[in-house]
Amino acid sequence: MREAQPKSIFLKDYQQPAYWIVETGLTFELQDGYTDVYSRLQLQRNQSLTADGSLRLDGQQLETLEIRIDGRVLAADEYRIEGDSLFLSGLGENPVLEIHTRIQPEQNTALEGLYRSGSMYCTQCEAEGFRRITWYLDRPDVMSVFTTAIVADGSRYPVMLSNGNCVADEILENGRRKVTWHDPHRKPAYLFALVAGDLLCKEDTFTTMGGRNVALKIFVEPQNITKTEYALDALKRSMRWDEEVYGREYDLDIFMIVAVDDFNMGAMENKGLNIFNSSCVLANPATATDAAYQRIESIVAHEYFHNWSGNRVTCRDWFQLSLKEGFTVFRDACFSADMHSATVKRIEDANIMRTVQFAEDGGPMAHPVQPDSFIEISNFYTVTIYEKGAEVVGMLHKILGKDGFRKGTDLYFDRHDGQAVTIYDFVKAMEDANGVDLTQFRLWYKQAGTPVVSASSEYRGDVGELHLTLRQSCPDTPGQTAKKAMWIPVQMGLIDSQGNDMPVNVSPAVNADGLATWTASSQVLHLTEAEQTFVFSGLTEKPVLSLFRDFSAPVRVEMQQTDDELLFRLQHDNDGFNRWDAGQRLMLNWIAQAERSEFELPAKARAVLAGLLADSTLDAAMVSYLLTLPSEAYVSEFRDVVDPQAIHLGRKRVRLALAMALKDEFAACYQRLLQHGEYRPEPAQMTARALKNLALSYWCEASDAGLNMAMRQFETADNMTDQMAALVALVNSGDAELAQRSLDAFYQQWKQDVLVVNQWLSVQSGSAETGTLEHVSRLLSHEAFDWRNPNKIRSVVGAFANQALCNFHRTDGAGYVWLADAVIRLNATNPQIASRLLTPLTKWRRLVPVLSALMRAQLERIAATQDLSPDVYEVVSKSLA
Ligand code: PHE
Ligand code: ZN
Repeated sequence: MREAQPKSIFLKDYQQPAYWIVETGLTFELQDGYTDVYSRLQLQRNQSLTADGSLRLDGQQLETLEIRIDGRVLAADEYRIEGDSLFLSGLGENPVLEIHTRIQPEQNTALEGLYRSGSMYCTQCEAEGFRRITWYLDRPDVMSVFTTAIVADGSRYPVMLSNGNCVADEILENGRRKVTWHDPHRKPAYLFALVAGDLLCKEDTFTTMGGRNVALKIFVEPQNITKTEYALDALKRSMRWDEEVYGREYDLDIFMIVAVDDFNMGAMENKGLNIFNSSCVLANPATATDAAYQRIESIVAHEYFHNWSGNRVTCRDWFQLSLKEGFTVFRDACFSADMHSATVKRIEDANIMRTVQFAEDGGPMAHPVQPDSFIEISNFYTVTIYEKGAEVVGMLHKILGKDGFRKGTDLYFDRHDGQAVTIYDFVKAMEDANGVDLTQFRLWYKQAGTPVVSASSEYRGDVGELHLTLRQSCPDTPGQTAKKAMWIPVQMGLIDSQGNDMPVNVSPAVNADGLATWTASSQVLHLTEAEQTFVFSGLTEKPVLSLFRDFSAPVRVEMQQTDDELLFRLQHDNDGFNRWDAGQRLMLNWIAQAERSEFELPAKARAVLAGLLADSTLDAAMVSYLLTLPSEAYVSEFRDVVDPQAIHLGRKRVRLALAMALKDEFAACYQRLLQHGEYRPEPAQMTARALKNLALSYWCEASDAGLNMAMRQFETADNMTDQMAALVALVNSGDAELAQRSLDAFYQQWKQDVLVVNQWLSVQSGSAETGTLEHVSRLLSHEAFDWRNPNKIRSVVGAFANQALCNFHRTDGAGYVWLADAVIRLNATNPQIASRLLTPLTKWRRLVPVLSALMRAQLERIAATQDLSPDVYEVVSKSLA
């Protein structure tokens, strides 16, 4: 057990720093085995505090070689280093601090600070990585103008980059090259970046709405230069979109993206120099699936949008993380909706909320969108901060309307440009620009947990009225009980027997705040009390209720609808999202039924599904979602007690029943959507492929003809979307020999391409058929695996524990032991990744008793490990509490 346990940090303890750092000058001497960092910090005493001239700086794993104040070298007894702090005293009003530190990028396996990935150097400073480079005030409210010089062997590192503009490039007397960058925009240290390597660059240009010519550059290792086109295209579309939709223009003459193979997260928005996980930026048709293309498009947009929502206006402290992340995810979601289908994007986002975020809200790590404490901030880059945060911004959009929302963001950017602010400031700008009171709405940021809304209704045919009563409650979460009623926007409609929306007359017409309850332009009821009844009048027949259209609030909805009503809505609801939602509810019922006995698809449902498959006027991607069963993880979130083996069985039976009952329809749909001509990553083609490959996966399950077609597609595909879909179908065919043969062939074809090999790893690890413990254990010693690379760890360990649920939840608990072993191993090398991998083990409380005990035992084993990182300690201790 550790001696001193890591401590929590609290939002309520926030204080401004004693000094500001006006200017930061950095010189990096890159040498083999170590790097010397020389910093020159122009400090300024913070006048709003009564500072006494003493200062504490952050630093981690630094060798401190020299410290000077105003040019004078400090003797060893003139400063104090204690743990991760450097204490200086007796500073004046405007001292200059110069520090020489030495660091070891080669030994850096945590991938925070300066590290090596392959043959290049790169940095990752968010959230607290800069302190691994030099002593600093490593907190986002300290914003500084950075000038950075990189000195290295120019022949081995021909490309040397940092933020801003390149202002000098010289050869020194000793033959080494020195490149200097200056970033005119003040920024916190977490947005600092440096890259050095032997890289190729793909270039383009963009002219902003104000006429600024911006050079766009994507830097990659030479073998990847043919994979840069799509990201560049997505970048230009993002830049245009942010001008059109938010009036935001880019503010430097150069925008760079660098692709690196070893990266803990997806990508990072460093000012003018974004660094990307290569899996989130590199693509060509032969190696990337449509899903990968869409992910690249949205992440490129996300990082670009941060230039305003995050960089120009940044966070005061890390409790405000969702200020930039929630807002930016909302922005990238709207961008994707505009590029593709808004309905499909909504379905995908709700799916993530319901499978992953609701699970987080219901578990030991539940926290508000604005947390009030944490031990390790890296643990708070969560679906709650990102996705729920985006949903909360989305509700503001629903409440204020498009124009009101834009007025709010304009005011926010104007008012706070160049500042480090809070979530409160964001909401205040929305209030001030619209003259509304959002006091109650702010609870969405403060209260953790998923609210439950239950709906009951009564139709009074004699007077033509429907009385709808909505009740809300929110379960207790760690540290929070007795929650208050929130402001929940309920977008809705009433459907007549023909499937048309009925005219709505609702009372009360305004709520307590004077807000219109429902208008022609905003079909939203405002639920603000614990219980409210709405009366709809003038009805000529009993309507079918369609509530929470467009997933208008991140809540669980409890309502009684018969399978017939659900089927009716699947067929007729005028809201695409709610068609999907109705279908999923129906399928949840089927799965529950199939857990108890054999399942046969009801004739009525068969007819509706067949109709969907044949209807070529519908968006094919939406149809493919309508016909996709909820995942096992999704099903689990609708259960009080989770029995993974039962869910697996039930889902499998329903899948087979669908495949058998609609065999001919799937075959016909597949044939209809076969594409000829060149592959392009464009919406029309992508949606058709999505449905075609869904049809193939069912068809395969029902007949040899389908299986033969999958083999043919696997062998002849000219693009990864089709080849991968066929591979997945073959792997899951139940024919172990066929699965292995296909996997082997695929590996031989693609073993030179790291990103494809990672997909190959995750297909097998994540499959119920091949992702057995014996098989994934063998993968760990395969030549393609590497414990230092987060993508590979996610592809094998992450895929096994999060997707192959029936294997992970083996009834002897061996899956849990295996995952705990991986966590313990990674705790020592990459704590961030170790901690993220732990998530499946945090769900022990809701499992059936036998599994629950086995899982808990593994958490206890991890807790008893020597030298736990704060990252792992926090998750384990909170899970056991
Ligand atoms: N800020 C990054 C993003 O969401 C995520 C990130 C966090 C990357 C921490 C690296 C480290 O865009
Ligand atoms: Zn982000």
